[in-house]
Amino acid sequence: MATPNPDLPGGPPLGDAEFDAIAAIMQSDARIHLVIAKKTLVHGRLSRRLRMHGLETFRDYVRLVGQDPAERAAMVVALTTNHTHFFRENHHFEHFRNVAMPAIKTAARTRPVRIWSAGCSSGEEVYSIAMCLLGTDRASAGWLRGADVKLLATDLAPHVVESVKRGVYSDSVVAPIPDAYRRAWVRPAGNEFEIAPEAREMVTARVLNLFEAWPMRQRYDAIFCRNVMIYFDDRAKAELEHRLVEMLLPGGHLYIGHSERLVGPATAVMESCGQTIYVKPGGAA
Ligand SMILES: C[S@@+](CC[C@H](N)C(=O)[O-])C[C@H]1O[C@@H](n2cnc3c(N)ncnc32)[C@H](O)[C@@H]1O
Repeated sequence: MATPNPDLPGGPPLGDAEFDAIAAIMQSDARIHLVIAKKTLVHGRLSRRLRMHGLETFRDYVRLVGQDPAERAAMVVALTTNHTHFFRENHHFEHFRNVAMPAIKTAARTRPVRIWSAGCSSGEEVYSIAMCLLGTDRASAGWLRGADVKLLATDLAPHVVESVKRGVYSDSVVAPIPDAYRRAWVRPAGNEFEIAPEAREMVTARVLNLFEAWPMRQRYDAIFCRNVMIYFDDRAKAELEHRLVEMLLPGGHLYIGHSERLVGPATAVMESCGQTIYVKPGGAA
């Protein structure tokens, strides 16, 4: 029913039929499962797009989305949640430093090392990983010289991928970076702060929908896919987790978000080795 809701911010009302049409697109294009409790959020975010197009009803907007692939893609992006911060869920970075990195350093002497931040948002996750790898000064980063260590950061939303490429953040965004890392790898840039080239050069940022074909050929030593799967239903989670596990090298680690869990075939392969941390068996002892 399209009754105006006094709790909703301005804009025309969002009827159930239009909400269902929008939810169906989110499910088919990004596998994002929109429950009815998200109606206020959908209304707020898409009202702006209605205004942009000079449309007066959600029915008109849904019609536009049906005819215009660019607007359909923009709608999907507008409905993603990109909240993130540096060193989020710090126990993952402690584990990465203490458990994953010693093996990574050994491996890097003889072969390429690859790490993937899947659903990277604006880059705080991937640059937190880069800072762990670099350590707290140039001497601690010495092992990387001559080594082939690369970080891939991917997200569905082009605007956040651009932020990763820029590597520039506000004062409040860089605040959670531990002091020693901040002193070493973050420098003032006008009113903002930029990530040092040593970290930026390790990172490649790309737009990638996790439910489309993945162009990467190589396997990964670690994959961070955190606070992404909460938006998917169990079927999509199982499918994605299976594919992520296939992309890991034996001994590789998978880090997932604090409220996420493994479901489906991945559970039979991966061994839990910490809070929301899994290892793929078969790595060097
Ligand atoms: C809440 S952020 C998590 C960022 C970071 N991983 C963290 O834990 O701080 C979730 C990100 O997943 C992305 N995302 C959602 N569905 C996606 C999909 N189907 N393919 C790729 N990225 C997706 C969103 O665009 C968003 O930037």
